[in-house]
Amino acid sequence: MLTSISRLGKIAFAQCAFSWNSDLDSIFEILSNRLDGFNDNGFYPHPDEVELRNELALVPTLAHLTEGLRGLHAHGIVLHGLGLAHLPEDRRNAALYALTLMLGYPTSTDQRTGRVAWDVRARPMEEIDGRFTTFSERVGSADMHTDSSFYPMPEEQFILYVVNAARCDGGHSLLIDGEDIYEALQQTAEGRQAFDLLSTTPVPFRVPAIYAAGDNNVEVNVALVFGPAKRPGTRFTMRWRYDSIKKGLDARPDLDTPELRAALALMNDVAEVRAERFKDQLPTDTLMLVDNHHMLHGRTTYTDERRHLIRIRISDVPNAERVGPSGVVRD
Ligand SMILES: [Fe+2]
Repeated sequence: MLTSISRLGKIAFAQCAFSWNSDLDSIFEILSNRLDGFNDNGFYPHPDEVELRNELALVPTLAHLTEGLRGLHAHGIVLHGLGLAHLPEDRRNAALYALTLMLGYPTSTDQRTGRVAWDVRARPMEEIDGRFTTFSERVGSADMHTDSSFYPMPEEQFILYVVNAARCDGGHSLLIDGEDIYEALQQTAEGRQAFDLLSTTPVPFRVPAIYAAGDNNVEVNVALVFGPAKRPGTRFTMRWRYDSIKKGLDARPDLDTPELRAALALMNDVAEVRAERFKDQLPTDTLMLVDNHHMLHGRTTYTDERRHLIRIRISDVPNAERVGPSGVVRD
């Protein structure tokens, strides 16, 4: 099923060595029967996610692929040649929604539309003008971050699927394991102090305008950068997005101190420069699965506006039990 498996730290790389045959048709049929439309091909969290998953688990290729991904026990997986490149948008996104539902509970990225599948590509500049935007809306680079860091319950995982790789020199995907962040911070006294402060002092994250209820609303969530570990064998869970925190501190000056600013600047330096990282240009038809609580991700700058990825975030918690704007509640 998966071949040419290699590893770099907690990241696993593999090649898909299977053919979907008629299983893509089976997935499409199951979703067509169970969902009330495809929400403009963005899909939405199904009201009975477990029942739908049980039905999808009977599709052999999907079940084997899920087993193969879980069996890699990695914090990041880069899977080449998934075999969806030839598909129209509805069928491709149906396959990605089905796969993510096998791995957990896909959440709505956009509370206004409920879309689960999010297009990561440049938006026209006139749409962006003046707002605090998010990385997936722009060409250019994305600083190292965790997804949904500004929400009460950041999803445990996400996928990125490459529809169109950037045809320019840039657009590399970047990953850093949380342990490498920790190791880099432990090298100096300032780093150790910064880690202790960011493990004990909650910081404000400002929600980007595209997700906030109204574009003029300033919405802030307060949380630890290094939160308590939730899984055996891990040291902490991580949230990070420097621009969101800096804007959060501007909105909440009561939480702003010189010590905190210094610790955040040091953490940013470790994330952007010092810590060891994976860096690669992912080709078309590649799937990346990332542990969003234990890895930072980002991308190098690019200029090709045809670069197009699909992102789906996956929660360990059913949508009905989630707190915050992601989930089945769309109002
Ligand atoms: Fe991201």
